[in-house]
Amino acid sequence: MPKKLFIETYGCQMNVNDSEVILSILSDQCGYVLSDDPLTADLIVINTCAIREGAETRIWGRLDQFTVYKRSNPNLRVAIVGCMAERIKDKLLEHKAVDIVAGPDAYRTFPALLESLEPAVNVKLDKSETYHDILPKRIGWSKTSSYISIMRGCNNVCSYCVVPYTRGPERSRSVETILAEARNIISQGYKEIILLGQNVDSYNYEGTNFASLIRLVAALDRSVRIRFSTSHPKDISDELIYAIAEEPNVCRQIHLPVQSGSDIMLEKMRRRYNREWYLERVRKIREVMPDCGISTDIIAGFCGETEDDHKATLSLMKEVCFDFAFMFAYSERPGTLAARNYPDDISIETKTARLNEIIALQGHCSLQSNGKDLGKRFEVLVEGPSKKGENQMCGRNSAGKMCVFPAGDFGVGDYVNVRVESVTSATLICTLV
Ligand code: 5AD
Ligand code: SF4
Repeated sequence: MPKKLFIETYGCQMNVNDSEVILSILSDQCGYVLSDDPLTADLIVINTCAIREGAETRIWGRLDQFTVYKRSNPNLRVAIVGCMAERIKDKLLEHKAVDIVAGPDAYRTFPALLESLEPAVNVKLDKSETYHDILPKRIGWSKTSSYISIMRGCNNVCSYCVVPYTRGPERSRSVETILAEARNIISQGYKEIILLGQNVDSYNYEGTNFASLIRLVAALDRSVRIRFSTSHPKDISDELIYAIAEEPNVCRQIHLPVQSGSDIMLEKMRRRYNREWYLERVRKIREVMPDCGISTDIIAGFCGETEDDHKATLSLMKEVCFDFAFMFAYSERPGTLAARNYPDDISIETKTARLNEIIALQGHCSLQSNGKDLGKRFEVLVEGPSKKGENQMCGRNSAGKMCVFPAGDFGVGDYVNVRVESVTSATLICTLV
């Protein structure tokens, strides 16, 4: 009987891809097979996130549950890996459910950690680790899309952010191994490749920058779409914008986190651009690609944020009219520059009220942006059945918008042409053309 592995992943897309690296290592070197039942597993791996306090609170709750599982399954071992493991290693090891703690750069040592009879830890960050030679085993989050991590870590020191501490310094993976992984994904029949990095615009491997890399990946197979995340407003270059516009199979979608519309907050956040710079980058993107989807991240209630700063965020949102946004209340992370230098002085009530205002405004913006698509035709990659109703399928257009349309003589992974008949703030409702 092969040993059974259950993996649970929290946090960002990078973490999902890291879980695929872990599965590859544990299946190739230790003979584990993936299982979807934690109750009968031999090993549970929880890949954790530390970005906000709430992300960590959820994990503590899960650990208490695993303590219960261990009572009925004495052979079960629990490994906690990822960003929270990196951040608070010792505290996690004190929890009676935890057998193994491994940080984001320590996954190669998993087989050795598993051999230890005592609880085992490795959270050493390694500024050269890119897992470049490990072919991730896909955990099945999508039938059509697959991730490739093109870099790891982060060199920006945004004052609110824990990532540079949990994932270490930035390093780019070799062009050759990225292309080899892309070819492998294409040969498995995937139709969309998503290139991942904390800041893809600063990718640089021996002189190849991100604009050149994306052209190389796109040229492998023109029937395969390319997406990428995340761009940093200070680093997104004209060269990249033109590459996206010129390569027919690079999707016209850019995730460009703004965080705040107030110059005072942006300075305190150490984002190294101001409002005007951000708006100029958006203007440039839209001048070159009027149909480009632009999404963002926004933090409400950062240290010292005044009502005027908050209003500046709302006015920037109106000015840009983002297609989509991830919106958060500021959560102080121990050890970050902000935690060391600025009091977390906005009350939870104010943070929540501002966040709600931001969420409501974004609802209007998404609806307005989708409304502009009424009557337009799009090519959509069919992802699967829609939750909206029977005989309805769904998939995204190039800009990343979710389209729902009637099932027909096509299947998952095919491209179909649709026309937008009506919209909600989240979906384009379409007919087939
Ligand atoms: N509090 C709230 N949101 C945060 N983010 C990062 N750090 C924090 C924090 N301490 C948000 C940012 C980032 C996204 C991934 O998470 O908006 O872009
Ligand atoms: Fe991803 Fe950041 Fe969470 Fe780490 S802390 S899992 S890098 S979102």
